[in-house]
Amino acid sequence: MNTLYWINPDTFTATEADLALLTPEERTQHLRFIPPGKRHEYLVARVLSRTVLGEKLGVSPQSLRFTTNQWGRPELEGPLRFNLTHTEGLVMLLISEGSDVGVDTERISRAPRLLALAPSVFAPTELSDLAALPEVERAQRAVTLWTLKESYIKARGMGLALALDGFAFRFDEPTIRLEVEPRLNDDGARWQFQTWTQGEHQISAALSASASPEIAVHAWRR
Ligand SMILES: CC(C)(COP(=O)(O)OP(=O)(O)OC[C@H]1O[C@@H](n2cnc3c(N)ncnc32)[C@H](O)[C@@H]1OP(=O)(O)O)[C@@H](O)C(=O)NCCC(=O)NCCS
Repeated sequence: MNTLYWINPDTFTATEADLALLTPEERTQHLRFIPPGKRHEYLVARVLSRTVLGEKLGVSPQSLRFTTNQWGRPELEGPLRFNLTHTEGLVMLLISEGSDVGVDTERISRAPRLLALAPSVFAPTELSDLAALPEVERAQRAVTLWTLKESYIKARGMGLALALDGFAFRFDEPTIRLEVEPRLNDDGARWQFQTWTQGEHQISAALSASASPEIAVHAWRR
């Protein structure tokens, strides 16, 4: 079973105890964010992940020791896999047992900007599929594609070290299929994807094809 926890950071009031959950490195990072909204988002993401992952593992939030892989993905020892995403108005944590996951969210209002960026971030087949759509549907497709692409690069744990034009999402309704060029050393059939909207946000998740497709979604409250 996969679980997704989300919170609107605007509804979360941070306390001294929350700040105390941060490691010294995280405190430094926290203070580096100049816009107060971004700083708060960062803190909420830390509190959410430590609290929920600590509960799942039956240990205190403080005792969790995260490591990062060579591309910066936070990880924990053991079978629990997770991925975080945060943007204005939404912080999310996706958790799975034993297989990698990726999650990404963007505000849907960014769709026209993402459409303008399409030629520099999408694969050739994605661009031709986009051009074949009625004009009115293109911006929504762009934000869907963007979040799917990010969910995949995050599930692989490699972030932008993966060439964004080296893999393409194809839409055979209701299935979302991933085609990966050999240079990226993967088989698109290893993955399954889901994409949906929640209020003002587009969300996409990448899960291993062998994992359950079910995602139990929980609004997180302290
Ligand atoms: C990992 C990456 C994809 C983050 O994407 P993002 O959309 O900016 O941010 P998100 O909020 O979705 O995810 C950030 C979280 O991903 C996790 N993360 C960091 N590196 C990661 C990696 N290599 N793999 C998976 N997850 C990673 C972290 O938990 C991070 O949270 P934190 O910064 O609070 O610690 C990063 O490579 C990046 O900088 N992307 C820039 C955006 C972009 O140009 N995307 C184009 C895609 S079409």
